[in-house]
This record gives sequence, structure tokens and C-alpha cells, in this order.
Amino acid sequence: MNVTEAMHARKSIRNFLDTPVADAVIQELLTKAARAASGGNLQPWRIYIINGEVTSRFVQLIESKAERETPMYSVYPPKLKEPYRSSRYKLAEDMYALLGIPREDKPARLAHVARNFRFFDAPAAFFCFVDKIMGPPQWSDLGMFLQSFMLLAQEAGLDTCAQEAWANWPQTVAEFVGAPDELMLFCGMAIGHANPDAPVNDLFSEREPFEHWATFVT
Ligand SMILES: Cc1cc2nc3c(=O)[nH]c(=O)nc-3n(C[C@H](O)[C@H](O)[C@H](O)COP(=O)(O)O)c2cc1C
Repeated sequence: MNVTEAMHARKSIRNFLDTPVADAVIQELLTKAARAASGGNLQPWRIYIINGEVTSRFVQLIESKAERETPMYSVYPPKLKEPYRSSRYKLAEDMYALLGIPREDKPARLAHVARNFRFFDAPAAFFCFVDKIMGPPQWSDLGMFLQSFMLLAQEAGLDTCAQEAWANWPQTVAEFVGAPDELMLFCGMAIGHANPDAPVNDLFSEREPFEHWATFVT
């Protein structure tokens, strides 16, 4: 699989099989992903991996909690303007259409969102933290690292879903993984094998045409 093929093949998977993933494979992929570029070579990603029984234990802990926590950052700007708002809306509507959940069925939609908090049943995951002193340039470095990981996972026959949903559980995640106070949680990453029979995994998110976001300056 070359880079172009990996770029086309990667997509967010929201229903995983329980097929295990070896720690050694995750370690190898993360090590390769750490070749990602970062400004000043700061390599600001700080990663905590959970796998197998540890994932089950963590999911149980989350499910035992009554209320979500206060996020340490806003996942989206408070008033998302166009065209971003429509893009987000379209993704959600396409996803719920595949799941067969109509707009009025709020409980079913919320139940799907809650599946984030069991990593969509993936057996393995990691959490990506960053030092609280870091700013937007270093946060963008996290993105390069995460995308590199997802492409490498694709090459290795594994599927992924990056998850900002975990921003709702900053304290519980930090305590569980033993992250020091100086770090803050950015996102999770579910890792496993896609369930080929789950319609939600057929979602192929659209992209804006080139002319909408790029300009050749003349
Ligand atoms: C940093 C990051 C966080 C994300 N968080 C979530 C999440 O919490 N839950 C989810 O279902 N998808 C999440 N996604 C997946 C996006 O919705 C997805 O990447 C986007 O719709 C494009 O679709 P694709 O990944 O299938 O190409 C996240 C993606 C990124 C890059």
C-alpha cells in the first residue's frame, strides 16, 4: 500500500470487531508515526495506550460515572459559521441515515454518540496528551502525528477512529492513565479491525472541492 492508497483507504471506523491487537504492533506503529514532522522537532505528543483487559476496565469505569466532566478546551468554536456548520451537519445526517436513526429519535442518536465512550468496541486505543504550556503550533504537530499513525495503521491492516469525544472526560482519563498534571488530554484514538457488517462503517465523508479552500495566487 502506498501513501496515496492509504490516504484513500483510511476513514473513521465506528464499529469494531473484538479481534485483538498486539501491544507490539501498536508500539511499532507509534514509533513509526513519531517520524512525523513537528516545529522545532519538539515532538509534543504524549501517548498513553490501553489494550485488551485494560480497555475493558477503563470502559467499565466510564460507564460507572453519572456525569461527564468539564472539557479543558472547546472541540468546536461556539457558533460554527458556514461552510463549517453545514459540513458538520451533513456528516451527522449521513451517519444517522446509515444507522437508520431519524432526526426525531434523540435517544437513539445520543446512544450512538455514547458509543464513543466504549471506543466503538475497539479492543485497543490510545490517548494523546500535550503539555499545557504548548500552543496552536504544537497542537497542529499532534495532528501530523495522529494522521501519520492512522495511515500507518491502514497499511498494517488496522482501522482507527480519532476521538475528540474524550475531551468530555479529561480528569478520569488523566487519573486512569497516570498522566502528570502538566499534561492535558487532546483526544483518543480507537484501534482495531472494522466490522465489515456494520452499515455505519460504510460512511464515506465528503470533501469540499479544491477551489473552496485553495487559491493559486496570480
Ligand atoms: C482530531 C479528531 C477528532 C475526532 N473526534 C471524533 C469523535 O470524537 N467521534 C467520532 O465519531 N469521530 C471523530 N472524528 C472523526 C471525524 O468525524 C472524521 O475524521 C471526519 O468526519 C472525516 O471522516 P473520515 O475520517 O471518515 O475521513 C475525529 C477526527 C479527528 C481528526
